[in-house]
Amino acid sequence: MTKVILITGASSGLGKATAIYLASKNYKVFGTSRNPNNYPKNDTYELLQFDLNKSQTSKALVDLIIKKSGRIDVLINNAGVGITGAIEETDIAAMESNFKTNFFGPLALTQEVLPVMRSQKSGLVINITSIGGYMGLPFRGIYSSSKGALGTVTEALRMEVKRFGIDVVTLAPGDYATEIASRRHYSPLKELSPYYDMYKFSLDTIDKHVDSGSDPNDLAKMVDIIIKTKKRKVHYISGSFLQKISITLKKILSDTIYEKLIMNHFKIKNTTK
Ligand SMILES: NC(=O)c1ccc[n+]([C@@H]2O[C@H](COP(=O)([O-])OP(=O)(O)OC[C@H]3O[C@@H](n4cnc5c(N)ncnc54)[C@H](OP(=O)(O)O)[C@@H]3O)[C@@H](O)[C@H]2O)c1
Repeated sequence: MTKVILITGASSGLGKATAIYLASKNYKVFGTSRNPNNYPKNDTYELLQFDLNKSQTSKALVDLIIKKSGRIDVLINNAGVGITGAIEETDIAAMESNFKTNFFGPLALTQEVLPVMRSQKSGLVINITSIGGYMGLPFRGIYSSSKGALGTVTEALRMEVKRFGIDVVTLAPGDYATEIASRRHYSPLKELSPYYDMYKFSLDTIDKHVDSGSDPNDLAKMVDIIIKTKKRKVHYISGSFLQKISITLKKILSDTIYEKLIMNHFKIKNTTK
């Protein structure tokens, strides 16, 4: 039977690459976008309207897919947005919006998909988190937190739904060349801010990393492997060697040494001079 896949945020970047790749592997793929009409129609997968910040519309999306295809085998919670800024200077409304898109929205959609998967007695949910969610990154603390929270809730949900034949995993990308930097919420860089130099350096560094990031098709291939794997891991990571090793180092180094490494990387000094 052809597996039916729902992937959020399939108009661009990792979601688009994954939707195209999975469709080429003969899965039936439904992608989503907030504005599907802004993108040219394609023959490989259907782009349906969905906004994670309007999570009450999750049921209508799931109903539509069930009407069209009768089942959902894989939900890929991929859509997400970045946010940067000193925590002191970031709007609470912007933080809430980030958590809506990266955490509450995916959970609301998952809540609508789980009954479908329970009735099928099978299903897979892949939550796209981030390597940046494994640690608190300076000037990306809210993004790290929303992605970290999605990783943690995945661990809990897995145990709750295992007996219904449903598997839940995370896939954490490192830096991939996508549109994420241009869509990110940037707290304004203010020259008079006490954070100006550190924030500016961090912004320059992270944008360089995304621009020189890996090919989104690599992540798409990994998603296909995860779908086909019988005994899956809880967490998958996909990125450069250095990005992957950053997670291993966090596990083996003391917190304070690890913090020094991160501060050195982003040239953050602990003196006011
Ligand atoms: N690229 C990286 O280096 C990287 C690294 C780690 C993790 N990630 C994660 O990977 C995922 C994909 O990111 P990407 O790099 O491919 O970014 P992207 O190119 O900016 O694509 C983001 C996708 O999410 C959708 N989206 C944004 N806000 C939405 C909302 N409120 N409701 C529904 N859909 C929304 C966008 O669709 P519309 O604008 O058409 O609605 C778009 O298709 C994200 O969760 C991101 O956090 C990316």
